[in-house]
Amino acid sequence: MSSTLFRTKKVEQSIADTEEPEHALKKSLSALDLTVFGVGVIIGTGIFVLTGTVAKNNAGPATALAFVVAGVVCALAALCYAEFASTVPVAGSAYTFSYASLGEFPAWIIGWDLVLEFALGTAVVAVGWSGYVASLLDNAGWHLPAALGTRDGAHGFGFDILAAALVLVLTGILVVGTKLSARVTSVVVAIKVTVVLIVIIAGAFLVKGDNYHPFIPPQKPVEAGGDLKSPLIQLIFGWAPSNFGVMGIFTAASVVFFAFIGFDVVATAAEETRNPQRDMPRGILGSLFICTALYVAVAIVVTGMEHYTKLSITAPLADAFKATGHPWFAGLISFGAAVGLTTVCMILLLGQTRVFFAMSRDGLLPRFFSHVHPRFKTPHRPTILLGVLIAILAGFTPLSELAELVNIGTLFAFVVVAIGVILLRRSRPELHRAFRTPWVPVIPILSVCASLWLMLNLPAETWVRFGIWMAIGFVVYFLYSRNHSRLGQAQRAAAGQASGPGTGTGTRP
Ligand code: ALA
Repeated sequence: MSSTLFRTKKVEQSIADTEEPEHALKKSLSALDLTVFGVGVIIGTGIFVLTGTVAKNNAGPATALAFVVAGVVCALAALCYAEFASTVPVAGSAYTFSYASLGEFPAWIIGWDLVLEFALGTAVVAVGWSGYVASLLDNAGWHLPAALGTRDGAHGFGFDILAAALVLVLTGILVVGTKLSARVTSVVVAIKVTVVLIVIIAGAFLVKGDNYHPFIPPQKPVEAGGDLKSPLIQLIFGWAPSNFGVMGIFTAASVVFFAFIGFDVVATAAEETRNPQRDMPRGILGSLFICTALYVAVAIVVTGMEHYTKLSITAPLADAFKATGHPWFAGLISFGAAVGLTTVCMILLLGQTRVFFAMSRDGLLPRFFSHVHPRFKTPHRPTILLGVLIAILAGFTPLSELAELVNIGTLFAFVVVAIGVILLRRSRPELHRAFRTPWVPVIPILSVCASLWLMLNLPAETWVRFGIWMAIGFVVYFLYSRNHSRLGQAQRAAAGQASGPGTGTGTRP
């Protein structure tokens, strides 16, 4: 049984599958498209919303350091992702990589995990968008009824109509084609980056040195809240629950990590890239570097403009300008945020449909979903199915805690990818790697440790929820995917032809 769980899909087979005409995606993206894609999805709710939350609750002005910590964790993971993406350039990201290195069951786990990351991530961002749009509408004098607004902090029955509508419109755009959406994306990314630069440059003139004292606020015990709300690391070591101090920087890093999610999505578009061997690493590392620099600058400026205890947790960037007497800038920033979050949402949705597509092409999910549209050449079926489900989720769910669930899922994927780099180097040393992770196995091992460290800084209840989701995944795998796997079926057929029943299926090469 363990031999079937760890059967691996040959890298050559993964690449050949993408060339079957019925299941082939169009190859149209360049390194620049990928970088724009990356920046388009990376800058979003994380910097526009979570900066204020963590500065106020966990790290104060040291939030800038939290961004550095999260950025380093992502850079280590990016070095591993880049090798995998340039070696196995097919749709499906970490899922495909692990199928080629770790085996079918780990690949299933990672695919299931990525569905969680992208689906909930899309919903989180859609709701963040809805909040900004509602606030812009308010400015214009149009007030949305509370029952149709965001569910965060709301009471009674309601449906976040703006968030759901956004997801459905984006679903339509993705069905029509990636190239069109990439073009829309570049315009929106330009607006978003401009707004972030305005925050940094205009904000720099409004900084007051006093706001940086103390830069790392002293540790404070947490009064209320059950144990499950504390970071797992505090429970494991029996530390008294606390905020701020040096440990507060790590708690903050595990939350603002959300702000970096997305560079891994670039890897999911490998199959649609003209020259993935060269362009993939450039796209991933380039977009990550640009975003880290912008985040650190924004965090420094915003915590310098307003004392961290007074920062807003819903629209901190805009509100810091209001608080310093510049409402005009605040309106502009809200507008940029609303526009910018659309691309984040769209690309997360894209990443998720591609993972689902790759899994169904392998037979682990129904093959019905792996047919591409005859005219648009897009995987329209999973796009529509998932778009509708996420729209419903975004409409009904308050999302503050879901961001943490997204983070744990993503960090887990990083761990698997880093281990995969080491294993694939051993099992397939001869494969052409356009980009090689430096210092293997040191960098992948550091990446595993760094990701695990951030995971341990997430609340215990996030671990419980993650465990439940993964347990459901195990059930689906053993009840459906294991028997429907194309690889498994091919191996069974070959074994049957060769020597009748009882012959073992292939294992890791
Ligand atoms: N990194 C993206 C954001 O912050 C997901 O919204």
